Amino acid sequence: MATFFCNSITNFNLFITIFSLLNTIIYSSSTSSESDILLSFKSTIKDPSNFLASWSNTSLTHYCNWTGIICTNNSPSVTSINLQSFNLSGELSPVICKLPSLSSLNLADNLFNQPIPLHFSDCDSLVSLNLSSNLIWGTIPEQISQFSSLEEIDFSKNHIEGKIPENIGLLKKLQLLNLGNNILSGNLPDVFGNFTNLVILDLSENPFLVSKIPSEIGNLKKLEQIFLQNSGFFGDFPETFLGLSNLKVLDLSQNNLTGELPKKLGASFVNLVSFDVSVNKLSGPFPNGICSGKTLTSLSLHTNHFTGLLPESVNQCINLERFQVQNNRFSGNFPNGLWSLPKIMLIRGENNRFSGEIPEIISTAVKLEQVQIDNNSFTGSIPKGLGSVKSLYRFSASNNHLYGGLPHNFCDSPVMSIINLSQNLLSGKIPEVKKCRKLVSLSLADNSFVGEIPHSLGELPVLTYLDLSGNNLTGSIPEELQNLKLALFNVSYNRLSGRVPFLLVTGLPASYLQGNPGLCGPGLPKSCSDEGEKHHNVGLTRMGYALVSIALAVAMIMAVFALFFIHRRAKNKSEMGVWHSVFFYPLRISEQDLVMSINEKTAVGSGGTFGTVHIISLPSSELIAVKKLVNPGKQSTKSLKGDIKTLAKIRHKNC
Ligand SMILES: *[C@@H]1O[C@H](CO)[C@@H](O)[C@H](O)[C@H]1NC(C)=O
Ligand SMILES: *[C@@H]1O[C@H](CO)[C@@H](O)[C@H](O)[C@H]1NC(C)=O
Ligand SMILES: *[C@@H]1O[C@H](CO)[C@@H](O)[C@H](O)[C@H]1NC(C)=O
Ligand SMILES: *[C@@H]1O[C@H](CO)[C@@H](O)[C@H](O)[C@H]1NC(C)=O
Ligand SMILES: *[C@@H]1O[C@H](CO)[C@@H](O)[C@H](O)[C@H]1NC(C)=O
Ligand SMILES: *[C@@H]1O[C@H](CO)[C@@H](O)[C@H](O)[C@H]1NC(C)=O
Ligand SMILES: *[C@@H]1O[C@H](CO)[C@@H](O)[C@H](O)[C@H]1NC(C)=O
Ligand SMILES: *[C@@H]1O[C@H](CO)[C@@H](O)[C@H](O)[C@H]1NC(C)=O
Ligand SMILES: *[C@@H]1O[C@H](CO)[C@@H](O)[C@H](O)[C@H]1NC(C)=O
Ligand SMILES: *[C@@H]1O[C@H](CO)[C@@H](O)[C@H](O)[C@H]1NC(C)=O
Repeated sequence: MATFFCNSITNFNLFITIFSLLNTIIYSSSTSSESDILLSFKSTIKDPSNFLASWSNTSLTHYCNWTGIICTNNSPSVTSINLQSFNLSGELSPVICKLPSLSSLNLADNLFNQPIPLHFSDCDSLVSLNLSSNLIWGTIPEQISQFSSLEEIDFSKNHIEGKIPENIGLLKKLQLLNLGNNILSGNLPDVFGNFTNLVILDLSENPFLVSKIPSEIGNLKKLEQIFLQNSGFFGDFPETFLGLSNLKVLDLSQNNLTGELPKKLGASFVNLVSFDVSVNKLSGPFPNGICSGKTLTSLSLHTNHFTGLLPESVNQCINLERFQVQNNRFSGNFPNGLWSLPKIMLIRGENNRFSGEIPEIISTAVKLEQVQIDNNSFTGSIPKGLGSVKSLYRFSASNNHLYGGLPHNFCDSPVMSIINLSQNLLSGKIPEVKKCRKLVSLSLADNSFVGEIPHSLGELPVLTYLDLSGNNLTGSIPEELQNLKLALFNVSYNRLSGRVPFLLVTGLPASYLQGNPGLCGPGLPKSCSDEGEKHHNVGLTRMGYALVSIALAVAMIMAVFALFFIHRRAKNKSEMGVWHSVFFYPLRISEQDLVMSINEKTAVGSGGTFGTVHIISLPSSELIAVKKLVNPGKQSTKSLKGDIKTLAKIRHKNC
């Protein structure tokens, strides 16, 4: 037994020796020809899609013209290999290091399934290694320091785990380090001060990286881009960052940062293009002077605990395109100039305590696409020039103190898709609308509008969500609205009267008519004089529930729709296991997630017999309105599905 054991060890050693000898022979005999080195590298790679077909010594093509190969011009020698997105797997052979001039190796977006290939550290001339988007696993070993010639390391989007070792600090030539989107964990080592040449640092999307942000990063004067979003960083915003005068992009969003932003932050970052600290627990005032360099295009402070006023210096943000301060505790006026900054596209300030008026100057904003300022204390009237902002596709200012009438042109933007002015103090008549042919959702609920429902609403080809409830509208419901394929129609609690157009009762997934004693028709307490009681409350006790959702996927110019329908078969309301869903349009949410998302927090209206509406925000920031539908027992599941399918088809075509 013992002998056998010894013997096998000897054999093993022998084998190693022979093996390395062979290796040496192969290597030395092949240094003569770069094409042989490439073919040897290819021989261990699996290439099912045959992307490397041109790599062949029978082909007449010079190896410098092989797929993915770049050579120096004069004495042809391979300097760069780019095999990105070729579906490759298999072994990465160290033979490639025999290429004397290889400086860049890009194997990104393939299926290499192995630990970090340390043997590439033998490639003396290599400065850039890209293994992003593969199946690289395991930890970063101490030997990572052997890569000391590298200037660019991109190991992002793999499954690399464990702590980042201290030895990484020996890679002093690094200009780019991207370890984002892995499963790294623990604290960052205190070696980041070593990377004095670093220009781009990306440690984002590592949820288990729970660490303070190393303050030494602030000493890396060449840094231009820092991505630390969506990891576990906690503690203060490092004061040392103020020394990063070349910084262009800073993304610290979705971490656990606390405390205030440094006072001089604005004045320090004179080259800043994008600043994102959203979804943290930061407090204190708005970073005054953030646009002192006039380079800022995107500012995101949303979902923190910021307080105080927006400084007048915001008016200097002449290159600002995206301004997001929603979900904070800001108060006071918006600086007037903000509304009409020459490049502003997106203004989001909802869920704060802002007050003041929306100035007329908004009409001069030439790029403005979205305004969301719901749930504040804005006063004054809707600017008369709103309709002349031709790029505007969303204007949402619900739950404020806006008063006065709706300007006749309020819906003149040819791309307008979503208007929400509900819960304000608006009055007067609702003007006729004709120009906003892309209008999907119009919510004017809970104001004091009077007069009739405009007949022209029936001519808007994609209007799907119409909420005029809680006003003082009179007259009858226009027949023209039957032209629409509405998914939600709420005119409850007005003073409407007369017969409800037939299709608005029977043809709609959701019709809300209650609180209009003057209305008559099937399903309503009052039947019209010439009609019997036969449709009255048919089968309401045998309720089948269905969910219809409309994703208002807000594309730039047009609204894209998704209809999603879940039908519950069981009669017993408390049995939740039997939902059936039909997807009519790719919707990036699973049925499971959708049902999970529906809770009391998402409920926006609960209308007795008619069920509850939930507004759910997808990760893609699309909004879905989910509605429980009453399916009067007569209509079979099949025919309800059919109706919604038709609806989905028509809707899709129109978009
Ligand atoms: C690569 O191909 C081009 C033409 O497609 C040719 O002009 C060039 O000489 C080739 N390069 C080498 C190194 O053979
Ligand atoms: C990659 O391979 C998969 C199957 O292994 C195949 O379905 C896919 O089309 C391939 N992609 C490309 C770009 O060739
Ligand atoms: C690595 O490749 C990916 C493509 O998958 C690319 O997005 C990334 O910019 C590359 N990294 C570097 C440092 O060039
Ligand atoms: C660089 O990192 C190493 C540890 O890996 C450390 O010993 C050394 O002091 C660091 N150098 C500087 C300048 O920070
Ligand atoms: C933030 O910290 C709290 C405890 O302080 C922890 O429960 C939570 O998971 C952390 N969140 C993130 C995103 O790291
Ligand atoms: C309105 O904003 C306040 C903060 O000002 C917030 O606490 C509240 O939850 C918001 N209401 C809604 C309905 O979002
Ligand atoms: C309109 O605003 C109200 C109040 O903020 C909100 O409850 C409702 O969900 C919004 N409607 C749409 C379609 O976004
Ligand atoms: C509707 O009009 C009546 C009488 O003019 C008034 O008392 C009531 O407050 C109005 N309701 C709304 C919501 O404006
Ligand atoms: C509905 O189901 C629940 C539990 O699944 C049960 O407790 C209840 O008795 C059922 N009700 C009816 C009316 O069947
Ligand atoms: C319809 O409007 C009424 C009155 O504003 C409201 O109570 C109800 O919740 C609304 N229903 C839906 C589904 O929006």
